[in-house]
Formats: sequence, C-alpha cells, structure tokens
Amino acid sequence: MSDTRLARDGGNPVWTDGWPLWPQPGPGAERRLLDTLHSGRWAVSGHWTGRPALESELATTFAEFTGARWCLPVDHGSSALLTALHAVGVRPGDEVIVPGLTWVASASVVARAGAVPVLVDIDPRTLCIDPAAVAAAVTPATTAIIAVHLYSAMADMDALRELADRHGLALIEDAAQSYGARWRGRGAGSLGIAGAFSTQQGKTLTSGEGGLFVTSDAQVRDRAEMLRGDGRRYARGPHTVGRPDLEEVPAVQGWNMHLSEFQSALLLDGLERLDEQNRQRAAAAELLDKLLTEYGDLEPVDPYPGNDRRAYYHYVIRLRDGAFGGHDAATVADALGAELGYWIHPPYQPLNAHPLYDPRRLPGVAEQGRAAGFDPARFHLPAAHREARRAVVLHHPMLLGSEDHLHAVIEAFDKVRQHAADLVPGSNR
Ligand SMILES: Cc1ncc(COP(=O)(O)O)c(C=O)c1O
Repeated sequence: MSDTRLARDGGNPVWTDGWPLWPQPGPGAERRLLDTLHSGRWAVSGHWTGRPALESELATTFAEFTGARWCLPVDHGSSALLTALHAVGVRPGDEVIVPGLTWVASASVVARAGAVPVLVDIDPRTLCIDPAAVAAAVTPATTAIIAVHLYSAMADMDALRELADRHGLALIEDAAQSYGARWRGRGAGSLGIAGAFSTQQGKTLTSGEGGLFVTSDAQVRDRAEMLRGDGRRYARGPHTVGRPDLEEVPAVQGWNMHLSEFQSALLLDGLERLDEQNRQRAAAAELLDKLLTEYGDLEPVDPYPGNDRRAYYHYVIRLRDGAFGGHDAATVADALGAELGYWIHPPYQPLNAHPLYDPRRLPGVAEQGRAAGFDPARFHLPAAHREARRAVVLHHPMLLGSEDHLHAVIEAFDKVRQHAADLVPGSNR
C-alpha cells in the first residue's frame, strides 16, 4: 500500500535503491596496493629500494594536474595548510584572514601556527570569501589571506590577488574541496603562493586521510619539504640501496607530516579517474540546477565568471524567502534525506558559532593573555548565517549515480515542497 505521507512521518520514501559508494577504488588499485605491500618501502622515510617512492610519482602527477610547479604530499589537508602558513613566513601574532563559512580546520590551523584567525563574511552568490570584507579587515598586522573554494565554487581569485599584491600579503588557497576547478584556465590551488588539498575520505580525490601541498615558488617549496619531514628532504646526491632516501638538513624545525606509500598508491589510482568523475558530477549538477529551479523557489550557486570550470564537492541549492513553507534548510534537508535514504544537510555552522571552533581552547592561549583576540564571537558574519539557514547540501557521490538517481532527487524536492505544511522544524546537522 502506498503511503503518501513524508518518509520522515512514516510514509513511503521516494527512493530506496541506494546510492553510489564512496570512495570507489579503480581496477588498478589492488595491484598498486599489493605491489606496495611487497616492495620493502611503505613510507618516504624508508630505504631506497632501487626505484623512487610512489609519493614522488604522485607529486609529479598531481603538480601537473593542478598546473603548479611542485607538489609535496602530506598526511592531512590541515598539514598542507599548516605547511603553507609556515613556509610563506606567517609568524606568531600575525593576522590571517579566513572566511567565516568553511570547515573549522581552515581557521584552526592559523591559531595552531600562533597567528590570529580573522574571520570575514562570504559573498552569498558563491558562499566563498567576500573580497570587500577582506579589504575591510586588512590591518598592519595582516600577513596572509586564506581563500577557500567552498563546495562547488571558487573564491574570486582576481580580486583577492589584487588585494594581496596591494598590501603585500601571502595568498594561500584552501583547495580541499575543489580538485579540478579552474579560474581563467588555471587550476585551483595553483593561483596563490601555496595551495592546500585534503584527501580525507569524503573528498573527490581520497586516500582515507591525507593531503597535498602545491606551490610554484622555489623557496616556499624547499622550506615546505623540510617542514613536513622533521627537517629532512630527498637526498640531492646518488641513492644507495638499503640506505635512507632522505637527508637531514639542519635548517628549519619541522614535524613528521609524510604521507604513506599506500596512501600515495590510492591517490595515483584516484587521479586516473578524477577528470571523468568530475565531468559526470558537473553534468549532473547542471541538470539539477535546471530542473530544481523550474518552480522559482530554489536558487543555485552563482559562480564568478572567472571560475570557468567548476568542481563539485557538494551540490548546493538555496531556498528562496518563503519557499517550502518558510522552513529552514535543516528542516527541509532532513525531510529530503528521509525520502532519499542519504545524508542531506545544511552548510557548516558559521565559525563565530561553530561548536568545534574556539581557538581560546588551545593550550597556552588564556595563560598568555591572547584569549580576547581569539574569541570567534567578535566577528560578524550575517551573510554566512543567512546562507547557512537557507542552503541545502548534497554530497558529491549523489552526482555519480544514474539518471534515475537524479530524478529521485527532483521527485523528493517536489514531494517535500507539496508537504511543506506537514514539516516540523528539526535539524540533522
Ligand atoms: C575546506 C577544508 N579545509 C581544510 C580541510 C582539512 O583537511 P583534513 O581533514 O584532511 O585535515 C578540509 C577537510 O575536511 C576542508 O574541507
């Protein structure tokens, strides 16, 4: 018997046939992992076996993918950001401008480096950092800007580049969510002095955990290589089988942020399919934009013209004023998720109200009298809050399904729209 109530009220869901799994290993992944297993080399810090570490192959392949000159694989996206901050010379006490709507790590790494994260508002068109808000936040203590390319759009790299040049600031890209996106033909991550990517489980290129740092600046590259390796770097001289491949350089204080060879194997596998998957995601997102906006109550993300190729980590659609009975995104997303059997959710909580973000909790901050500067509540982020209340977010594996999957999404929006009067506020954040 068909029960036409909302699935969250016990009715029949729109879709019960599941969604594409993520991550998806390619046909060559097992061979690569097994070869690594028996290779005698599981880490960069292992011995030379007669052939370069897989991570060097990954570094070359990924640098080419982005268009940056160099890549250094690291253990997390957060480490790539931390490496970038240290490598470009951000110092304790400096101010670093960060968008107020992003994953907490974009800002928490700044505090971890001893610098002050200055949160600024977003441009509602793209959900990315608002260049006008950046301009208003620059002070004599500012030394860097972190541009986050959020969900499916790139930050305005022309405006940010102009600001960075005018004030002598380092422009760092947090490209964790934008593999393959382009700005005027140039790859995300390659436009600033350094770019940081995450290869954590949910990302469109993943090794479970991991990260990738890119730069085209030789000095930054050299410092970054030692920073991520406890001060070690690949030996510049000839290699000897059975001896370490790394040499010790007493130049910078680093940490061990190396990526393992197994993770490099998975990323080389993922890179072989990334372009094709990105094309599929983009085609699905374009179809959703077209069909979901037909009623006029939903508004898609509006990328800047310079963002000539989009990459979809999350697909985002916004509820216009009064749409869906005036309910917020959390309520609508919860109902949609029940119809589709997948986690659909609102965006991140803005960082001046995010339960996981409060750098005053870092060791030493209160004792050193730095708590006031680190208080997230001192920043005003009205656009971030408005968008967080009205944006519904779909994770990228939903874009990798069949046409039937996409039509189920449309049907679920239709059903929830028709039942808007039955919705009860509730969050699945
Ligand atoms: C925008 C953004 N920045 C930074 C990170 C941090 O990456 P990781 O979790 O690999 O440290 C993430 C990943 O979650 C992210 O989405």
